[in-house]
Amino acid sequence: MTADYSSHLIRRPRRLRSTPAMRELVAETSLRPADLILPMFIADGITEAREISSMPGVYQHTEQSLLRAAGEALDAGVRCVDLFGVPLAEDKDATGSQAWDDGGVLNRGLAALRREFGDDLIVMADTCLDEFTDHGHCGVVSTDRFGATVVDNDATLALYQKMALAQARAGAHMISPSGMMDGQIAAIRAALDGEGFQDVSIMAYSAKYASAFFGPFREAVGSSLRGDRRTYQQDPANIRESLLEVRLDVEEGADIVMVKPALPYLDVLTKVAEISPVPVAAYQVSGEYAMIQAAGANGWVDRDAVMMESLISIRRAGADQILTYFATTAARALRG
Ligand code: PBG
Repeated sequence: MTADYSSHLIRRPRRLRSTPAMRELVAETSLRPADLILPMFIADGITEAREISSMPGVYQHTEQSLLRAAGEALDAGVRCVDLFGVPLAEDKDATGSQAWDDGGVLNRGLAALRREFGDDLIVMADTCLDEFTDHGHCGVVSTDRFGATVVDNDATLALYQKMALAQARAGAHMISPSGMMDGQIAAIRAALDGEGFQDVSIMAYSAKYASAFFGPFREAVGSSLRGDRRTYQQDPANIRESLLEVRLDVEEGADIVMVKPALPYLDVLTKVAEISPVPVAAYQVSGEYAMIQAAGANGWVDRDAVMMESLISIRRAGADQILTYFATTAARALRG
């Protein structure tokens, strides 16, 4: 004899899942093309765009191909790109001086984007020295009083100020310091305001972890790094210090705070979103992208479905904006 449960079931959650229209009606989280930010790379000394082997579909761009790809992103509804520069190996030096040279590859790229798109596309600049230093660290390296090699926090801040000013002069709407030096937001805000760039905003890489998920990015920028960044980027074991980093960055003047990587750090994102008085972004990094692309290319997962699920999950966890190499592809999919 079968029990008659139907008379007891007042609550039937499946009712609200019954049709696509019903599911859309009750969706708690949305994803729009304008939520997405496309990270891009411009490289010096190349005559055509070069695909990054560990990041299929992502390129080191020439100025021309950069403008074309940024235009495609804009056409798909993406409103912001984040530009990284890849200088010639011989132009790297101990302090990363190409970073604040107005003729340096990144500043040329920023200027080209601003000239081409005006205020239609938000031009964001990566503000960090690692692509430009011959040792590959995000700051200047010095020797402490015991003879150990260290990344010098306060000496680095002065260079970030020069770099941010060059980026503002080039036309960047937004500066995004990714080097995890203490006090970098305050230093950059003061430098920008001191030169009349009050209108240039700052997206702070507030909670950035020393992550193996950055692997493919190192190829993307031709990184010179040996060793790791564990004395400045955060330990994946920790979450409390992310909240401290966010509070400090907000006090120092950050307009947007960011958590990076995204999918392995959704708990961090949720906690940050709970306390942040400013928008919270998340960065779906190179390794996250590479894993989804690789599994998709093997037919092991449905790439587009996993892409969309990962992005909606990052939004659900608390991200307002998402930096993702899928930005153009996802934006096109969203527009059907
Ligand atoms: C450093 C920087 C890195 C990334 C963005 N900015 C690499 C690092 O910290 O080692 C990683 C981005 C990615 O993996 O997609 N300027």
